[in-house]
Amino acid sequence: MPPAGASFFRRRVQGNLLKVKSQEPALAAREVSKSFDGREALGGVDFEVGPGEVVALIGPNGAGKTTLLSILAGISKPDSGQVEGHGVAWVPQQAALYRRLTVRENLLLFARLQHDAGLTSEAPQTMVERMLGLTGLSARADDPVGTLSGGNQQRVNIAIGLMAGPSVLLLDEPSVGLDPAQRERLWSFVLGLVGDGTSVTFSTHDIGEAERYAERIVVLAEGERVFNGTADELRSEVEAGGATGDLESSFLAFLRERGH
Ligand SMILES: Nc1ncnc2c1ncn2[C@@H]1O[C@H](COP(=O)(O)OP(=O)(O)OP(=O)(O)O)[C@@H](O)[C@H]1O
Ligand SMILES: [Mg+2]
Repeated sequence: MPPAGASFFRRRVQGNLLKVKSQEPALAAREVSKSFDGREALGGVDFEVGPGEVVALIGPNGAGKTTLLSILAGISKPDSGQVEGHGVAWVPQQAALYRRLTVRENLLLFARLQHDAGLTSEAPQTMVERMLGLTGLSARADDPVGTLSGGNQQRVNIAIGLMAGPSVLLLDEPSVGLDPAQRERLWSFVLGLVGDGTSVTFSTHDIGEAERYAERIVVLAEGERVFNGTADELRSEVEAGGATGDLESSFLAFLRERGH
């Protein structure tokens, strides 16, 4: 488990930025649009994430974050536009776990499904032991999932997403409902994966979390990408408007100035 201090993340960010510049995106959406019942949820959005990069997707309720993530994951089809990239895993907000089955039984169930679907050649039992090690949950292997903390349940949820060895992990509001300590542990687990070159894109309503753990922030509002850059760049966008201090204030001022 890597140390979770800010300096660790910053060093990792610098390393990743250097790496990203010279490489093709791991996953990209070009001019992606999607409407539901005639109402536009996404209106021609561009998005990309580089190999090993961590990107946060923020924006008001209904902005289109989940819609974009599900299109990137390939589980929802855009009306127009393209998605390029492969090896993508989608971790939905609601963990699809069987609460009365143990951690090991849940992992075994999904390992078998993925194995039988030809998504991995790894033997299910071997996969289960590897995922128990990765999540740090070996000691809880025989406990019903429903007895675990929210943070530990989310680890099991993410471990299932990792079974097919994805190169991009898409997480929809992964830390909702977690206390700060659980949240920090979850992120040190997720960012430990980035060390292997896995890209991470996550949505969140916690602006501090976006700044702390992502090297780049994308803001969606009413189906449009209205910002793409670093937290400091987002701050400087609104400096003229008098926003200082925390990123959440800058974010709110940024949206207000643009009529959202
Ligand atoms: N399956 C669906 N059927 C109809 N409308 C949908 C569907 N999924 C999303 N929408 C609509 O598309 C828009 C974007 O929704 P989406 O869930 O992507 O937003 P979000 O940014 O994830 O919001 P939140 O922060 O609340 O999770 C909303 O207006 C929503 O009502
Ligand atoms: Mg959503």
